[in-house]
Amino acid sequence: MKNKAILASVALIFCGSTAFAVDFKKDVLPIFESSCAKCHMGGNAKGGLALDPDRIKEAIGDGASIVPSKSDSSDLIRRITMKDGGEDVMPPKSKGLGNSDVRAIREWIDAGAPLEGEGMVAQKPEAAKALQPLRGEWTNAQGKTITATLLRVEGDKALLQMPNGATYPYPIEQLSPESQSKVRAFGAPAAP
Ligand code: HEC
Repeated sequence: MKNKAILASVALIFCGSTAFAVDFKKDVLPIFESSCAKCHMGGNAKGGLALDPDRIKEAIGDGASIVPSKSDSSDLIRRITMKDGGEDVMPPKSKGLGNSDVRAIREWIDAGAPLEGEGMVAQKPEAAKALQPLRGEWTNAQGKTITATLLRVEGDKALLQMPNGATYPYPIEQLSPESQSKVRAFGAPAAP
């Protein structure tokens, strides 16, 4: 294998792209709960929009507030990103949500707006642990981050699949300590 060339192309793709699996309950729901609940949860559905986990499905779909995989076409994103206080901004009379909140919601929508149990990495991987590919962000020792799917661990290499489908055996020791421990946790045998 032309290891140098592979590393160079992986390094090229290590370009700080942001999309990766965001968990609705863990990453998105808390934002709705802290910023939107007063008007859109717990029996409140201003504008006909309920963001409760058991009702949000009604707001997901073509032409709905949340268009799966299309954050740019999602009215909800438009409204929380109206920085200069347009009259449609959500929450009302604010400057929209902060960047990290917007990013989490965007990533969740662009991942197809999955709710719990839909297309997410298993929360209790046990038996499936070694088989379930792990999509996520990976950072190398130089601090560059990519989005890729960890297919499996092969010796001292992490077999990473890029969004374009190409796979690279990436030397685990050249990942950041944090990514290394993620790889190790993934590759470790399931606890009894
Ligand atoms: C203080 C109350 C209040 C809060 C807080 C609030 N909203 Fe709203 N929201 C409204 C009202 C009232 C409407 C209906 C009027 C309108 O469309 O502007 C609305 C409408 C919407 C709509 C359009 C629904 C439709 O189908 O037309 C979206 C999307 C929305 N809100 C998203 C959010 C999000 C996301 C948050 C939290 C970041 C949020 N709102 C926080 C009051 C609120």
